[in-house]
Amino acid sequence: MRFYVNIDHVATVRQARRTDEPDPVRAAVLAELGGADGITVHLREDRRHIQERDVELLLQTVQSVVNLEMAVAPEIVDLAVAWKPAQVTLVPEKREEVTTEGGLAVVGSGSGNALETALHRLREASLRTSLFIDPDPEVIRASADLEVEAIELHTGEYANARDGDKREQLSRLQRAAALGASLGLAVHAGHGLTYRNVASVARIPEIEELNIGHSIVSHALFVGIEKAVREMKEVVRAARETA
Ligand code: PXP
Repeated sequence: MRFYVNIDHVATVRQARRTDEPDPVRAAVLAELGGADGITVHLREDRRHIQERDVELLLQTVQSVVNLEMAVAPEIVDLAVAWKPAQVTLVPEKREEVTTEGGLAVVGSGSGNALETALHRLREASLRTSLFIDPDPEVIRASADLEVEAIELHTGEYANARDGDKREQLSRLQRAAALGASLGLAVHAGHGLTYRNVASVARIPEIEELNIGHSIVSHALFVGIEKAVREMKEVVRAARETA
């Protein structure tokens, strides 16, 4: 299983003062030392955290891989095509949201729409593409029809659920992962995963990549980024071993 660390919220702290610290590039180097298999950043259209400068420097600095999360906006697609990160994860984006709220609207999107146009351009640039989607069978089948390499299952509802609903949300993720893999898609997962809730998701055998950000950056305030990453990696590794 690949474990990618999302460092957006290091940039959130910097942007709170529009200054030059903390630098997400330094965080990426330390995250790699802590065992991150990749670095994930979301270049939002409103540039609320990660800036173009960050992505450019990360692409030169990161020794693992950069997974660039982005909306299907043409100007961001232009940047991705020029930058050629190892992976592009397409996500929905609303200006008013605090974080990415739901998965991409893939079903019934019709040909020639913004998503298909973006995928076409990314494919022409030979970029690996992943779609961030809700763990729903219909959406997974529609994603497979779009011939992307991967889907990232939105784990937010699982993360927010309690008691019996949590078990139901977990089995929804398990069914979604099995369906995605059976359709030939690489299955990733992320959003809202924490040191406490990640193990059950990490045990789902078809999931090959996790993207985790907020919980790690929060813990890093107290223990440092390298240790925070190492601790999360250990939780994931131990869970996987007992799968
Ligand atoms: N995956 C995707 C597609 C996301 O948009 C985000 C949030 O930026 C994450 C994973 C990471 O979520 P969190 O910060 O809650 O770990």
